[in-house]
Amino acid sequence: MLRKLVLASTFRRTISNGFLCRTRSPVPLPSPSPIPWFYRTSTLFFSTSEVPQGSTIEQTEDETKDAACSTISIDRSGLYNPPEHPHEPSSDSELVKHLKGIIKFRGGPISVAEYMEEVLTNPKAGFYINRDVFGAHGDFITSPEVSQMFGEMVGVWAMCLWEQMGQPKNVNLVELGPGRGTLMADLLRGASKFKNFTESLHVHLVECSPALQKLQWDNLKCTDRANTADNAENRTISALVEAPVSWHAALEQVPSGLPTIIIAHEFYDALPVHQFQRASRGWCEKMVDIQEDSLFRFVLSPQPTPANLYLLKRLKWAAPEEITNLEQVEVCPKAMDLTQQISKIISLYGGGALIIDYGLNGVVSDSLQAIRKHKFVNILDDPGSADLSAYVDFSAIKSSAEEVSEHVTVHGPITQSQFLGSLGINFRVEALLQNCSDEQAEALRTGYWRLVGDGEAPFWEGPDDQVPIGMGTRYLAMAIVNKKQGAPVPFQ
Ligand SMILES: C[S@@+](CC[C@H](N)C(=O)[O-])C[C@H]1O[C@@H](n2cnc3c(N)ncnc32)[C@H](O)[C@@H]1O
Repeated sequence: MLRKLVLASTFRRTISNGFLCRTRSPVPLPSPSPIPWFYRTSTLFFSTSEVPQGSTIEQTEDETKDAACSTISIDRSGLYNPPEHPHEPSSDSELVKHLKGIIKFRGGPISVAEYMEEVLTNPKAGFYINRDVFGAHGDFITSPEVSQMFGEMVGVWAMCLWEQMGQPKNVNLVELGPGRGTLMADLLRGASKFKNFTESLHVHLVECSPALQKLQWDNLKCTDRANTADNAENRTISALVEAPVSWHAALEQVPSGLPTIIIAHEFYDALPVHQFQRASRGWCEKMVDIQEDSLFRFVLSPQPTPANLYLLKRLKWAAPEEITNLEQVEVCPKAMDLTQQISKIISLYGGGALIIDYGLNGVVSDSLQAIRKHKFVNILDDPGSADLSAYVDFSAIKSSAEEVSEHVTVHGPITQSQFLGSLGINFRVEALLQNCSDEQAEALRTGYWRLVGDGEAPFWEGPDDQVPIGMGTRYLAMAIVNKKQGAPVPFQ
């Protein structure tokens, strides 16, 4: 089945040639500016056993009263490039005013998670809300933007799952955080020859950003069509496969009742994390406060916060040796809750979810990072102008899914390289290389390497200090499926 899907898709592409000519080439070689291949895992990462030492100064209850006077310094030298300019923009942006307003109104600091959520998705000024943040002129690049082959391979995975589900006539195909809509567009184009599959699809995009929703609409070649039923609302149809498409702010708004295939690529890493630090009085939550000079700074909570409940839950899932030497822990309650919601949908209606992201199969220590214009910057620097993301804790996803339902099984994580390789990306790239210009071939090879490689790209001919690093082992893939369907391809 797998090989058939990959080759059939190849055939379609070869004869239409339309795809082949679309060179989603690497971001053009710089002269002299941006680092062309910057994605969100390009940083050094501290695994649980490599916690950066001596970061946050512990704050006692008494000190909290004097918080405005004390200096809390965070040594992030190992994790981030030094900020290029001070934390405070010359005049406060709307988002900075808003954040300061919350802290002042509460009369105390907010959690790192609340800060992260506001920075990314505040409806007026959040990082994702008003602009396209991807690619050369954006802030970072993701796998679907690197090569069309990524979305095509995810399409192969979805079709194989649909086969295992018994080829249902109606299926919800849900993507969480579709960005520009590139993955879904490549998936649908790649699958367009398989009419039984595409005719079953109801595409649902969960997206908080109006600007990105507009891009998704364009990339999926959407049009509004009159509904034939009396008084029924118009339907939005993707001309790529004639499937209905709709947008939602959250997964719970997707109409339920159908077998469901869910794709989450680089979505979990954007969910807000709480950070905890071990102190003499136990685990203390790291919070964001304002100092007297009006700059943001980190402080530690003097007493347990509501998020401590999630920390306890997470630590219970960990092996004792995993946490003994930990000084810091990140916990993502939204990831746990979302996974449980996904599990319930899959156990009730059948189907599966594919989660691809950068992360660890274990407790994450201190990974939160900020990226602006392809460079790491300080997390507290001009919030709303830089992306914030954190490593995904795949082990917590597995435990969350299994905790809520006996009717699902969790597979992986495996590396992106294993995932794409087992699905046949080698056949795909070879087929595409048969029929393309030298320039396209170069882009295909570089894209292929970026997706599956580990280490530096062999085909690179640009400046040495900008050699792209493969995403093959940094990104992991995990599947959650209904138990009745058996193990999904390629996790068997
Ligand atoms: C890092 S981007 C990944 C985009 C795309 N999946 C890709 O790989 O290119 C995160 C996406 O999730 C969306 N997003 C982030 N937080 C969200 C939330 N809480 N609800 C809905 N969408 C969200 C962003 O607007 C963006 O489309």
